[in-house]
Amino acid sequence: MTELLLDDEAGRVRAAALLRGGALVAFGTETVYGLGGDATDARAVAGIFVAKGRPRFNPLICHYPDAAAAFADVEANEAARVLAAAFWPGALTMVLPRRPACPVALLAGAGLDTLAVRVPAHAGAQALLRAVGRPVAGPSANRSGQVSPTTALHVMHELGGRIAAVLDSGPCRVGVESTVLDVSGARPVLLRPGGVTREAIEAVVGEIAVGAPIGPSSPGFPSRGALKSPGLLASHYAPGLEVRLGAVTVAADEGLLAFGVPLAGAGVVFQLSAAGDLTEAAANLFAGLRWLDANGTGMSRIAVMPVPMEGLGLAINDRLSRAAAPRA
Ligand code: TXA
Ligand code: MG
Repeated sequence: MTELLLDDEAGRVRAAALLRGGALVAFGTETVYGLGGDATDARAVAGIFVAKGRPRFNPLICHYPDAAAAFADVEANEAARVLAAAFWPGALTMVLPRRPACPVALLAGAGLDTLAVRVPAHAGAQALLRAVGRPVAGPSANRSGQVSPTTALHVMHELGGRIAAVLDSGPCRVGVESTVLDVSGARPVLLRPGGVTREAIEAVVGEIAVGAPIGPSSPGFPSRGALKSPGLLASHYAPGLEVRLGAVTVAADEGLLAFGVPLAGAGVVFQLSAAGDLTEAAANLFAGLRWLDANGTGMSRIAVMPVPMEGLGLAINDRLSRAAAPRA
């Protein structure tokens, strides 16, 4: 059962409690409805991908009540500060480097060193974010492949029965997604056109470049091969060690990414899920790859135990096969 909550004090208190407890709550913003989950809770973030039925881990936008809260988690440069002053709160999402102490789960950013952050202008969304007191990861609240919802009823049609609640704040004023701008480099790059126009951005920071968003079809989506393409390097994460998939035995010079009962004999082991739980495994995936990279000194590669091709296993295997793709 999905609760339909009114966007009033009581509704927001309930929604915030659900979010803080790790449940998923869709909420209205001025652009489109977001499928919210506590961004610092990797299991809640994994649940977002389950609810959306996404076969791949796209990086998600993290929502904050104000710029100060956002810039506590990412490093703002001069351009980011100027853009925030001009367009926040509003329909602009900025991609910036994560701070070392950023509490957002690696899965929310699909393992990248950068994070997409946004301060929505909608008063109800802001009040909700303040009540939650943590960043809220929120892709558009539709099933994978469907259009973004702009009313609570749309969300109910798409996700009813799959999430804890929908906070009904009426129809979305803007109706299209936020503009996604990568501000992590020397010159801002427009990754997705949206509610704030290119012209409006250029009036504030001068000429910007246009790039492709990170997504399943973009050639630069993290893979060892893609790491070789210049310009796509910085923001993409692939482990430094080679990756061997479908391991049924493991050698002493290999780091093991285990799923279920670990194979014996590995140099170091990172357990994705001892119980063989796919949500837990997804929540641990990027942390595991990074941990093995950091702790696999002297290892020749990472061996990965088979993960079943069902539910979240599709997205996990998709990401692992990108990590294992031969170097270009
Ligand atoms: O208006 C919106 O932006 C809505 C509301 C709910 O805020 N959210 C939304 O999220 O549309 P989503 O997940 O559907 O789109 C996020 C976009 C994707 O195109 C993704 O590739 C890009 O942002 N993105 C997220 N993190 C990124 C990163 N670290 N680097 C580059 N692109 C990123
Ligand atoms: Mg979307």
